[in-house]
Amino acid sequence: MKNIVLLGSTGSIGTQTLEVVEKLKDKFSILALAAGKNIKLLKEQIIKFKPKYVSVADYIDMKELEKEFNDIKFFCGEDGLFELADIPETDIFVVATNGIVSVKATIKAIENKKTIALANKETLVMAGDIVMKKAKENNVSIIPIDSEHSAILQCLNKQDNPYAKKLWITASGGPFLNNSREEMANFTAKEALKHPRWMMGKKITIDCATLVNKGLEVIEAHHLYNFNYDNIKVVIHPQSIVHSFVEFCDGSFLAQMGVPSMHIPIQYALSYPDRFEGIKTNSFNIYNKKLEFLEPDFEKFPLLKTTIECGKKGGLMPAILNAANEVAVYKFLNGEINFLDIEKIIYNEIENSKNILKPSLDEIFETDKQIRQKFL
Ligand SMILES: NC(=O)c1ccc[n+]([C@@H]2O[C@H](COP(=O)([O-])OP(=O)(O)OC[C@H]3O[C@@H](n4cnc5c(N)ncnc54)[C@H](OP(=O)(O)O)[C@@H]3O)[C@@H](O)[C@H]2O)c1
Repeated sequence: MKNIVLLGSTGSIGTQTLEVVEKLKDKFSILALAAGKNIKLLKEQIIKFKPKYVSVADYIDMKELEKEFNDIKFFCGEDGLFELADIPETDIFVVATNGIVSVKATIKAIENKKTIALANKETLVMAGDIVMKKAKENNVSIIPIDSEHSAILQCLNKQDNPYAKKLWITASGGPFLNNSREEMANFTAKEALKHPRWMMGKKITIDCATLVNKGLEVIEAHHLYNFNYDNIKVVIHPQSIVHSFVEFCDGSFLAQMGVPSMHIPIQYALSYPDRFEGIKTNSFNIYNKKLEFLEPDFEKFPLLKTTIECGKKGGLMPAILNAANEVAVYKFLNGEINFLDIEKIIYNEIENSKNILKPSLDEIFETDKQIRQKFL
């Protein structure tokens, strides 16, 4: 029985993680949950999964919950996430929060030598050098939950495979794959949220529409698998059946395939390196499947290139890109700007920010804060 600490239990990845755990209750148990503000759903999860520890974003919610569940130890805020990172009985620390709130707690869990199952992108995008160095020093595995990185891990067979030459990360192309830029400019948030293949949280769905998400995944792959950026390629695959490829030195390509469902990579991250039956996703009918693999259109989706370039520059640039993108995406979701204005906000921040190579964690967080404050 493995004890799981789950940060972000009420979100898209968090709820699906609990579905996986529910199916595999003889193998996994929930030791701790952390959520933000969705207290109604969190209460249902507490009743069902009976965690020993729970953390919420706000003090007032913590006080309310304490009255109702007197056998649970509650925490709140960023300190609460640190407390969860310190629980000795943890086997797997699942990071499924959005944004940057859990980055420091994840580093603490690594220092405590906990296996990390990582969905949160910001952790590696903002602080990949620091996080991977800590993981190496502490001999900690960081198992990706993202379907593309999970696919790469499955093809590599282990995180460091000397025969692997290139990583090919697939992208569905998002909802606007076949639209012109003129059409994109007029699409509303509601239209951009209609992802053709995946059901995800709002922020990541917009990142799929701009293809920033794919650029962020290239940065994550660079850190996770220690691949040079020139050897990480993006390929548009609208059917989302192949979740990524690895190209080997003898010319072989290995791909991991399956229906687009996050249950599979979530479960693999928990069971790694084993596999369990667990949640049965409908096995897809392989007959008569048409699978396309197209070159990305960097002119139509310039932020894909910009995001990868920020990764290549390194230092503070990925954090600058990440903060500017997050601010811009929420403005778009709130109806304050149009879809293509996301680009303008990002370009403006990149042009007006100064890079520092090898920044400290404090410098990364300070830069992130400064960018966000400009838009308050
Ligand atoms: N969704 C996907 O399919 C997918 C795939 C690959 C990678 N990812 C990555 O995984 C991460 C999570 O994505 P998501 O789509 O699951 O996001 P989401 O649906 O927005 O969920 C975010 C979760 O984080 C919680 N949270 C927010 N602030 C918090 C705080 N201060 N303390 C504790 N918990 C807090 C939220 O709680 P409340 O809702 O209670 O406020 C919620 O449970 C993102 O980095 C995303 O890029 C997602």
